[in-house]
Amino acid sequence: MARTLVLEEFGRLPRLVERPVPAPLPGHTLVRMAAATVAHLDLNVLDGAFGILPSLPAVLGTQGSGTVLASGTHPEGALVRVRGEGIGLSRDGVWTEYALLPDAAVEVMPEGTDPAVACAYFSPVGTAWAAVHPIARVRPGERVLVTGASGAVGAVAVQLAARAGAEVVGVVGRPAKLPHVPAPADAVLAADLSEERIGGPVDVLVDTVGGPVLRSALSLVRPRGRAALVGYTAGRELVLDLADFFLADVALLPVNMISRGAEVAPEVLRLLPDLASGALALPFERYGIERLAVAVERLRTGAAIGKVLLDLG
Ligand SMILES: NC(=O)c1ccc[n+]([C@@H]2O[C@H](COP(=O)([O-])OP(=O)(O)OC[C@H]3O[C@@H](n4cnc5c(N)ncnc54)[C@H](OP(=O)(O)O)[C@@H]3O)[C@@H](O)[C@H]2O)c1
Repeated sequence: MARTLVLEEFGRLPRLVERPVPAPLPGHTLVRMAAATVAHLDLNVLDGAFGILPSLPAVLGTQGSGTVLASGTHPEGALVRVRGEGIGLSRDGVWTEYALLPDAAVEVMPEGTDPAVACAYFSPVGTAWAAVHPIARVRPGERVLVTGASGAVGAVAVQLAARAGAEVVGVVGRPAKLPHVPAPADAVLAADLSEERIGGPVDVLVDTVGGPVLRSALSLVRPRGRAALVGYTAGRELVLDLADFFLADVALLPVNMISRGAEVAPEVLRLLPDLASGALALPFERYGIERLAVAVERLRTGAAIGKVLLDLG
């Protein structure tokens, strides 16, 4: 039997039930799941607040990792990452111990990869890479401000900007998160954010939070600087006074991983060894499948440090 989280009603937590292990099917891969992410996208689906929704009852979970049990395409026993092809959206997802997935949603990972890293790395590392490199084009000697700097995308963006030779300031929303801003960034509380506190304007902003934090962080970018906008967990509206916008002269650059995913994929793969060795730190928290409520609460309240994972193996 497969312990599985089943969503019966939008807006309520899925129920943990036992289901038969799915039977193998041509064109599909049966995966013994090891880990799955609990992501903002999953919460939007859970709430019934996303443009693509499954018919109920449904299994959520848009990304995970595990071991191939049966497949016509992928080697049995291989560690795989699973995502895409509508899993957790238009078809059953991976918040389960055994998932039958379209072959195209399954990607074999290099041997020895930590299943937690395999499950969680692509989105935050790819997004941070896209923001720092092709989008904001951070150069050596520049000053970069990163908001949500203890979060999954933010923490990686801090490290990638530092690797690019920038001086980095990392902003967090609550004091408990200050120690979780990766070195060598200067860690600052959002409430204390000012030009004096951070030693003058910055060249680049990478914002992963949105809302009022974005508004105050934007005012610290120098004229002709760049702001890469990644997320809006704390608020999805940014009111622009056009006269102020022209005066400020800061380029607002959207980060869209749907369009950038293929472009950054090779770069992200190259970073896997650093993620495995810890040279590049990807923060995450893990919870057993029976503790979904805690995982969801940590994510919803912004208390989580980095990615939130369900342990399924
Ligand atoms: N544009 C894209 O293609 C793309 C791709 C991937 C992810 N994203 C988005 O990027 C954002 C960051 O992703 P992530 O994985 O790094 O997420 P995360 O770790 O959960 O969140 C980043 C930061 O947002 C703040 N936050 C979270 N929940 C909040 C809440 N309820 N109220 C106020 N602040 C809150 C927290 O920072 P503080 O407490 O320090 O303020 C948190 O560290 C998310 O919104 C995600 O959906 C976008």
